[in-house]
Amino acid sequence: MKLKFLPPAMMLLGAQLLPLNIAAADGIEVNHLGVNNTIVRITGDGKYLLLPVQESIDDARIAVLVDGKPAKNLNVRLAKTKVDYMVPFDLTPYKGHDILMNIVTTQSRSNVREIKEDACWKNIALADTFDTTNTEQYRPVYHHTPLYGWMNDPNGMVYKDGVWHLCYQWNPYGSKWQNLSWGQSTSRDLIHWDRSSKAVLEPDGLGMIFSGSAAIDKTGSAGFGKDAVVAMYTSADVSQIQSLASSKDGGYSYDVYAGNPVLTLDSEARDPNMFWDDNAGHWVLTLAHALEHEMLIFTSPDMKEWTLQSSFGKGLGAQDGVWECPDLFELTVDGTGEKKWVLICNINPGGPFGGSATQYFTGKFDGKVFTPDTDANGNVPTKWMDFGKDHYATVSFSDAPDNRRTVIGWMSNWQYAAEVPTMQYRSANTLPRDVSLFKGEDGLTYMSSAPSPELSALRDKRTVNVKNVSTGNKGREYMLPATNDGVCEILIDIDSKKADSVEIKLSNNANEYVSMIYNASAGTLSFDRRESGIVDFSQDFPAVTTAPTFEKSGKVSLRIFVDKSSIEVFGNGGKFVMTNLVFPTAPYSQLSVKAVGGNARIDNLEIFSIK
Ligand code: FRU
Repeated sequence: MKLKFLPPAMMLLGAQLLPLNIAAADGIEVNHLGVNNTIVRITGDGKYLLLPVQESIDDARIAVLVDGKPAKNLNVRLAKTKVDYMVPFDLTPYKGHDILMNIVTTQSRSNVREIKEDACWKNIALADTFDTTNTEQYRPVYHHTPLYGWMNDPNGMVYKDGVWHLCYQWNPYGSKWQNLSWGQSTSRDLIHWDRSSKAVLEPDGLGMIFSGSAAIDKTGSAGFGKDAVVAMYTSADVSQIQSLASSKDGGYSYDVYAGNPVLTLDSEARDPNMFWDDNAGHWVLTLAHALEHEMLIFTSPDMKEWTLQSSFGKGLGAQDGVWECPDLFELTVDGTGEKKWVLICNINPGGPFGGSATQYFTGKFDGKVFTPDTDANGNVPTKWMDFGKDHYATVSFSDAPDNRRTVIGWMSNWQYAAEVPTMQYRSANTLPRDVSLFKGEDGLTYMSSAPSPELSALRDKRTVNVKNVSTGNKGREYMLPATNDGVCEILIDIDSKKADSVEIKLSNNANEYVSMIYNASAGTLSFDRRESGIVDFSQDFPAVTTAPTFEKSGKVSLRIFVDKSSIEVFGNGGKFVMTNLVFPTAPYSQLSVKAVGGNARIDNLEIFSIK
């Protein structure tokens, strides 16, 4: 840009006269216009503009202009006093064009001289690569995480042509919630994920891209072609409206539908989840009527014209938070031919252990109306899908093979998700789980979540194999595998016999531990992470969570997955699950099993290192 008016303060730089408030460095021209406004012009070459981030700073608003026309808006916590990490702005789509950023910050400064000292202007750079090599000690080894940046809910989950597509709420410009886009990873085995460094859907004129679903349109009813993968998501700005995007390449990329929005309401509604109902012969959409604490059910012949059929949930189940991220599907009750529908209603806050959690209802669905099961007293029971603190926004893959219903959740909690001790990325997903229904001893129908069968392939060496040993007050101790920083899978079957309780403890040399207590007479398993390692980043993090074991025999069978910063406990074949984050300063290296008030028996203990 040619400066038309030269400001009065000038300095001599080489032979050139530049105004005091312009710095020209390595292909980037930075022009401070005032205490809160800077223009950055790209004059050099590079695939990326690397933007320095300081997490404690408020967002700067960046309007990107290409050839003078508005192209994109982003919000980035541009560094003031120190750089926590860099994020890449991809310049390749604009190669050969004039790129300019109009940046407004909210920092308090008394004059333009001060803004020049900000760390972001000293470190902003052009580069041809952006290094995503892991830098985080707590990054999981076998759970999905984004390459970098913030992640929350899983989105647009669909299985197509042998590939599991997992999109997710993603901020490509920082590790806190902002600039919500859909990131995408794909997998053939639910373990190894190809993580795209590009968003598949990015904020547009209708707003940020909030959560939603995807499904295969087998007949081409929506006009995007037979077998097109179609996504429906919430466009979120001042209001929340529902939009479509379709894929021509089987779900790897999406084109936003020009006729958006396809559904608008006069109140907050989000997270559309749709499926084709074969019996009814129409599309069914469940939509979270968040602040009303209910789910709305719509139908459509073509995904574009939606008719409201019913609503479900007002006054039912947990009501102490907003209702979000629904899912509706049919399952068979194990061991019977009976079929029932499940309506998942994620809720935040208001979970059993504070903050976010996933509740569900079982019942009937006639294509338009969901009618919940009731207990013996005619009440609608509240049921939870997971009894840990870090299981949220869980929904299922559409079109999974072999009649499977496979779910994945966000492994965090809105109470502290933005404060957990990682920076390069924030949040992982839960392990994939295959859900089914079972009848509890109380006669009610519950949903079980078993680790997806693919996960057995994670096992490497069996490092411990113990059968039928008794344990008492002194307890028994076993080493956890040291390979791969202690990540492992533990199988343990316990018969509590005469004992009041049995404690299973994972500990390290720094006196950090997780204690799980099985109380056979109460029929519960509790998980105590108060001394698990770093816990002080939020007062809501140190906690004890408790699950019902759905078993009266005095026996419990656990499958425990330990990764670098999480422990998932699947009990009695998935009848109960507990997902909890942990941040030990050194890997847990020991497992002890101790009985209180009498002897118990370890029927089986196997520990596997992870490949
Ligand atoms: C749930 C949620 C959704 C929303 C998304 C925004 O965690 O609040 O309701 O679509 O996150 O990121």
